[in-house]
Amino acid sequence: MIPTLPLHGGTDSGPWVVHDFSTNANPLGPPPALWRAVQQADRQRYPDPHYRALREQLAAAHAVPPEQILPAAGGAEAIRRLTLAALLQGLREVWVPQPGFGDYAAAAEALGLSVHCYTVWQELLHGRPALIWLCQPCNPSGTRLDSAALARIAAAATATAAGPSIVVIDLAYEPLRLDGEAVALPPSCWQLHCPNKALGLTGVRAAYLVAPAPDDTWARLLTLAASWVLSAEGQALLMHWHDAATLDWLAESRAQLRVWSAQQRALLDGLGWRQRGSCTPFWLAQPPPQSIEGLRAHGIKLRDAESFGLPGWMRIATLTPPAQQALLKALTTLSTQTAITQGFSK
Ligand SMILES: Cc1ncc(COP(=O)(O)O)c(C=O)c1O
Repeated sequence: MIPTLPLHGGTDSGPWVVHDFSTNANPLGPPPALWRAVQQADRQRYPDPHYRALREQLAAAHAVPPEQILPAAGGAEAIRRLTLAALLQGLREVWVPQPGFGDYAAAAEALGLSVHCYTVWQELLHGRPALIWLCQPCNPSGTRLDSAALARIAAAATATAAGPSIVVIDLAYEPLRLDGEAVALPPSCWQLHCPNKALGLTGVRAAYLVAPAPDDTWARLLTLAASWVLSAEGQALLMHWHDAATLDWLAESRAQLRVWSAQQRALLDGLGWRQRGSCTPFWLAQPPPQSIEGLRAHGIKLRDAESFGLPGWMRIATLTPPAQQALLKALTTLSTQTAITQGFSK
């Protein structure tokens, strides 16, 4: 039997895509200075196996001791490693957001853990020890919990009679949050930072975890990591993630994305799409029936949300005005073709 692997937006094995609305990567990336550093990364030597300088730098940005920073070869790798650590710690339940990023459930299922989906955060106050995934803001919905909800979840997770839960806040899209204030992150929760999306460098596999404390879970995560888990390019990316130049560039790119998102939403409104609210440059949208059949042949890709449990819905990310115009043109052509075909069959 061939196992089912998680489905993702972005590059696939199909025909070349000119305008990829299916990826959540920032279309404005990468920032020039950071990109130069990645290109100049020293590939002729191993990185420091302990990543000391990198951990010190990230630790200073997060105001934690350097040992609490754990580099990872991307968020996907960190999710697998954390799930394995949870299993070794004796946890048997994993709680994942619905709809949510498919890798949380895939990692749990691969290890025989039981997966529970939650649609509202109050379901997480069940009082049983578990690995709990929170995604802030959530992929694919672009929604997020407030500080009070996070505090309640964290408090409930530490108060379980049968041992504590591991709560992980996946902040992959926090740097691309287009509105609202940053929420307070409970100190007892793990944080997962995956900057490659905000930087438009998803091909560079680099992320890091911030551990709440140097506890048993932390020790497992450390010892489960492959040696040199982060490549030289990944190390360079993370080294420059908190640079002033990178942060300024990010702020500018959020301002631009706000404008483009509003334009794209207006365009889709005009075509009769239903669209959900979101604080990110991507959101869930439902096209009129049959209106997108054949879109790929026009070099345009959307992320079908069926695998998120939302048949008929798409996740669509903000792209540049020329890409939006190409989408409009393709959708108009498809609708004209459908009208002609329906006319013939009458
Ligand atoms: C919410 C979320 N977390 C983590 C990841 C993993 O990203 P990466 O492995 O590229 O760091 C993704 C990728 O799409 C994601 O959407």
